[in-house]
This record gives sequence, C-alpha cells and structure tokens, in this order.
Amino acid sequence: MSTPIIHMENIKKHYGNVIALNGVTFDVRAGECHCLLGDNGAGKSTFIKTMSGVHKPTEGSITFEGKALSFNSPRDAMEAGIATVFQDLAMIPLMSVTRNFFMGREPTKGRGLLKRFDIDTANEITMTEMRKMGINLRGPDQAVGTLSGGERQTVAIARAVHFGAKVLILDEPTSALGVRQTANVLATINRVRAQGVGVVFISHNVRHAMAVGDRFTVLNRGQTLGTATRGDINAAQLQDLMAGGQEMAELEGSLGGTI
Ligand SMILES: Nc1ncnc2c1ncn2[C@@H]1O[C@H](COP(=O)(O)OP(=O)(O)OP(=O)(O)O)[C@@H](O)[C@H]1O
Ligand SMILES: [Mg+2]
Repeated sequence: MSTPIIHMENIKKHYGNVIALNGVTFDVRAGECHCLLGDNGAGKSTFIKTMSGVHKPTEGSITFEGKALSFNSPRDAMEAGIATVFQDLAMIPLMSVTRNFFMGREPTKGRGLLKRFDIDTANEITMTEMRKMGINLRGPDQAVGTLSGGERQTVAIARAVHFGAKVLILDEPTSALGVRQTANVLATINRVRAQGVGVVFISHNVRHAMAVGDRFTVLNRGQTLGTATRGDINAAQLQDLMAGGQEMAELEGSLGGTI
C-alpha cells in the first residue's frame, strides 16, 4: 500500500458548543477514490473544509506527504495540491468555457506593456483537456451556461487536474444530476484516478459511491466507525451505517418495511 498523500488524524471541530466533528481519522492515497458518506448534518462538509484549509480543526493533526502541516487558508491548501470542487462550482455561466477554465490563471504572451492574454493557447488547452475527459465542446467559446450540469462538473474537475491537483475533493458532485450525467461524472472520476490523483468523493448516495469507491468512510454525527475497503462491505451495510443502523430498522418498522 502506498503512503497516503494526506492523513488527517483524530480531527475535532467545535462550533461554539456544537460538536461537528468528534475525532475523525481519514487518509487519501494517490490514485484511489475514497468515499466519505454520511447523512445530512453528519459533518462531511465540515470535515473537508478542515482538509482544504477553510477551517482550522479544534484538535487533531494533518500530515501532508509525510510532513506535519497546518493550513492557514484555502490558498495554502491549494498551493499544496488540494483542490475542492464545491457544488455551486464558482463558474460564470455567460462566460466561455475557456474563460472559466483559466479564471485568473490565463497564459500570457509578450512582455511588459505588451503582455496580453494568449487566447489561442488557452483555447487549445481547454479543448484538449475537455476532450481527455470525454467531452467534445462545440468550440472553446461555448458559454458555460449552455453546458449540462454534468459537463460543468467536468470543466471544474478538468481545471483542478490541469492546475496540478494531487488530491481532488468533490462535495456531492452527483446529487443534482440525472442518471446519464451521473454516469459521466463517475467516468470522469475514474479518469482522474487513473492519472494518480487521489479523489475524495462525498456523497449520501451509496450506489454512486459503490460505483467508483476503493474505500468508504461513513460519518455519523461527527464520528466514524472506521474505513472499509471495497469488497469488504456491501451497499446495504453502508446504508445501515449511514443511517445509524438502529434508526433505520425503526423507520422500516414504522413504515411497514417499505424502504
Ligand atoms: N458554521 C457553522 N456554525 C455552527 N454550526 C455549524 C456550522 N457549520 C456546520 N455546523 C453544524 O455542524 C454539523 C455538521 O454540518 P455539516 O455541514 O458538516 O454536515 P454535512 O454532513 O455536510 O451535511 P449535508 O449532507 O446536509 O451537507 C451540523 O450540526 C451543522 O449544523
Ligand atoms: Mg454538506
């Protein structure tokens, strides 16, 4: 087994007297997809925010590529190679795919006062990177607003990988998508993983997670019962862990076994 790119040990996070995380241990290795599952309010977003430098953990340690580390800002985490694709994506619908792809990191040509945006290079990189992810754009100036939700997720993922992500965190990338688009995003995750990037896939959909996950960690009210490896756990068991077993059984009982 390879050493993890990032290892989070016994992470606790309190918001005032709300305990959002109560000792979570989680790591990500190169080329794997590690799924973080949990019901609403379980602490998934809080956890990845500590991983991506948005929040400092109240307690716990982070080791990145073997060294103890503390991120002071999302920029620190990004520079280390941790990229997060949030659900609202931070894209501008009326702007072209190319503009969205670079957004502040545009290639330039010329020097000094003659320095300007190198649109041809930018267009070419965008078309190539999108093609690698299985999406043939009509053209680089196609507006992001005309892409489907799944294609937009793919632009955001391709962008993160192009700018050197080692760990890619996807917060519920499939929750608003239909079947076909979900399949496309899951295929994109596979491609990214094949390039050696470690993927953290957050979901509360067990089937989506089972389709791409190598390992599964379930959060339940800020705690985890450990991490399972693909093959050691089935969908029903994962679902049970997510719902906290007991509660699910009670719910099934009260609904006459319909779920
Ligand atoms: N900024 C905050 N201030 C106070 N409490 C917060 C804050 N952010 C989250 N919480 C609380 O921490 C707990 C975990 O929230 P979190 O958003 O991490 O859950 P989640 O697993 O991402 O849920 P969802 O599936 O709904 O996105 C919840 O009880 C939430 O109310
Ligand atoms: Mg969340």
